[in-house]
Amino acid sequence: MAKGRYSRLPSKRSSSFTLVLSMLLMLSIVFLMLLALGMVSLPIDTGDSPKVNDLSSLERFDGLEDRYGKSTEILSWEPRAFIYHNFLSKDECEYLINLAKPHMQKSTVVDGTTGQSKDSRVRTSSGTFLKRGQDKIIRNIEKRIADFSFIPVVFSSIPGATIHGLLFKQVLNFTEHGEGLQILHYEVGQKYEPHYDYFGDEINTKNGGQRIATVLMYLSVVEEGGETVFPAAKANFSSVPWWNELSECAKKGISVKPKMGDALLFWSMRPDASLDPSSLHGGCPVIKGNKWSSTKWMRVNEYKV
Ligand SMILES: *[C@@H]1O[C@H](CO)[C@@H](O)[C@H](O)[C@H]1NC(C)=O
Ligand SMILES: *[C@@H]1O[C@H](CO)[C@@H](O)[C@H](O)[C@H]1NC(C)=O
Repeated sequence: MAKGRYSRLPSKRSSSFTLVLSMLLMLSIVFLMLLALGMVSLPIDTGDSPKVNDLSSLERFDGLEDRYGKSTEILSWEPRAFIYHNFLSKDECEYLINLAKPHMQKSTVVDGTTGQSKDSRVRTSSGTFLKRGQDKIIRNIEKRIADFSFIPVVFSSIPGATIHGLLFKQVLNFTEHGEGLQILHYEVGQKYEPHYDYFGDEINTKNGGQRIATVLMYLSVVEEGGETVFPAAKANFSSVPWWNELSECAKKGISVKPKMGDALLFWSMRPDASLDPSSLHGGCPVIKGNKWSSTKWMRVNEYKV
């Protein structure tokens, strides 16, 4: 007897479950029909959205907020450039500077014909490269860069690494497109004249292909100057809210004022994989203060070290 009751119970429960499910299904069909007939409509934001290239809609972020105050904004579509506020914490900025300090060397540029590094007057900063995935903090930052840019810069075969919050005993083959982080230091008067990040030679593109995008992170407070300027950008330069605070050099294009913890992502290639000459950019001379920044260059293909 008891056996029979037991066997009936689940079937009763499952039949009422089926009933609820089919009612839900019918309700959604009715809703879809009403939607198709235009009798109901989904809420759509009817507020005025800012126009493309309307730089006056850019927001100002003063003072270093914590990482919870982070946000992104579009700087420009030609070149494609985006600002991520408070991308790095103050501790991460200081960590990168202290890690690099003992190894700083005079910066070089790549010779367009030979592909060799050479000294140059167009780039007067000093710098050093960090190893890719060098430690946990660097790996965290590199992971964040990958998330921001959608370009994989994930570490391969590091036991115990986490990817997307999951802990892996052994990370399987992940392709990594980023070069190691470069840390740069500009003292008063030091600058980097406008240049492209993509290469004009065949030697430098053998490993990884062309440079597709760059993430530039500002690690220190610069009181005056040191802006990143895009002189070939297509926009009304003077409509940025911070126009009056820019140095003469920075007024020659769309400019970003360095702010500790902020990151700038820009693309050297267009979505159709052609090189984008509007990505021409430079580092204006520092007028007051000390500029520390970090650069991650990313390649079209996997970059092997
Ligand atoms: C994957 O990892 C193995 C072992 O580390 C290596 O031999 C192989 O070349 C890797 N494959 C790719 C596509 O990177
Ligand atoms: C550029 O922007 C400034 C400031 O918003 C404005 O006064 C000026 O008229 C604009 N110039 C053009 C050509 O649109």
